[in-house]
This record gives sequence, C-alpha cells and structure tokens, in this order.
Amino acid sequence: MRLLVTAGPTIEKIDPVRYISNFSSGKMGYAIAEAGREMNIDVTLISGPVSLPAPCGIKLIKVENASEMAAETKRIFPDSDITIMAAAVADYRPVLQAPQKMKKESVSLIIELEKTEDILASLGAMKKPGQVLVGFAAETENLLENAHAKLVRKNLDWIAANDVSGNETGFGSDLNAVTLISRNGTILEIPAAPKIEVARLILKEILSAS
Ligand code: CTP
Repeated sequence: MRLLVTAGPTIEKIDPVRYISNFSSGKMGYAIAEAGREMNIDVTLISGPVSLPAPCGIKLIKVENASEMAAETKRIFPDSDITIMAAAVADYRPVLQAPQKMKKESVSLIIELEKTEDILASLGAMKKPGQVLVGFAAETENLLENAHAKLVRKNLDWIAANDVSGNETGFGSDLNAVTLISRNGTILEIPAAPKIEVARLILKEILSAS
C-alpha cells in the first residue's frame, strides 16, 4: 500500500525577496503522513515551505512553488494507491518574476497574475481504476455544496470539507474539523479534534471503504 500526501502552502515569487502565498501551516498534511506511517503504509510526503520538522520514516520531497509541486506530484502519483492533496496550492502566480529586487518607483503597483495548474484536477484526469484520490476543500461559506462541486469537477473519490473561517480550526491551528464526503454520497462528520486524530479518522474511513 502506497500513500502520497501533499502538504503546506506553495510560494510564488514576485522578485528575489518577495512572494505570494497563503496561511497554510502544513500541519494537516504532515498529520496524515504520520497517521499513514503509524498504519505501516509506505508514505511519500510532498511539502511546500513549512516550519515543521521532517517526519521520521516518511519519504519527504520539498518543493517551493505550484509548478514544482505539480511536477513532483504527477511523477509519484502513478505508483500511489491513495493520494491525498492537503496542500494549499497557490491558485495564481505572477506572470513575470523580476530578476532583481523591485524598486518602489510608482505610487501604486499592479502585479499581473496567471492561474497555476490545478494539480488535483490533473490527477483526477490521470487516475486509473483502483486508485483513490482525495482532496481538501477550504471554504469560508456554503461548505458542503462547494466541497461536493469540487469532488465532481476534479473527479475525486473523497473530499474533506474544511471550514477555514473560524480561528479554532482554521489555518495554523492544531485542531481541525472536517466533513468527509465520498463520491457515493456517504458523509462522515469529524468534529474538532487534534489534527493527528482527524488524520487517523480520515485514513481509517478511506481504507475501510477501499
Ligand atoms: N488544488 C490543487 N491545485 C491548485 C489549487 C488547489 O491541487 N492549483 C487542490 C488542493 O490541494 C485541494 C483542492 O484542490 O485538495 C481544493 O483546493 P481549494 O483551494 O479548496 O479549491 P480551488 O480548487 O482552488 O477552488 P477555489 O479557490 O475556487 O475555492
């Protein structure tokens, strides 16, 4: 059994000293990797820049931006039985990356952004029978509706709907609460608990259904 997990944010450089990113801490993805290792699963973790220690007994691949995460994830994915995309991939990156530090010349500044690849949707399109693909949906409104639409749009087997509007269970917190929705319509509510507990419950549910 091989498990591929992605975690953390990606950072998209504007110039050598500035970037666009998000508040992801990587804790949820690292907890899933750890829960997989506890279950004696062979785990590969692809991580954006985080300040968490490298977990023991897990293959760790470090990446910086969305395009590197896409390349590494698509490279490992064909050999994975279960893939869980917990990374908060940046949706946009600057069209141009200045080679030198940008000087503050004008009163205002417009930075043109372009969409990054939707890695999870690419995996959904590559998926072979028997592979299990799981996404996260970070939402601040219409949680279940938006999450279910992502499950269908990206051809997933499961989605963990994550309300990131509160402080208790949002980005950076040690706790999380998710609603795990399967493509067959089963719904499992996982109430607020330490991320490692949530990770164990997610994996247990997915493994018992596979
Ligand atoms: N995801 C991805 N590649 C991206 C953006 C998101 O693989 N460029 C994955 C995330 O890892 C997550 C899922 O897609 O598993 C949903 O991410 P989310 O940010 O909730 O949704 P988006 O698809 O980006 O849609 P929106 O920002 O419109 O809510």
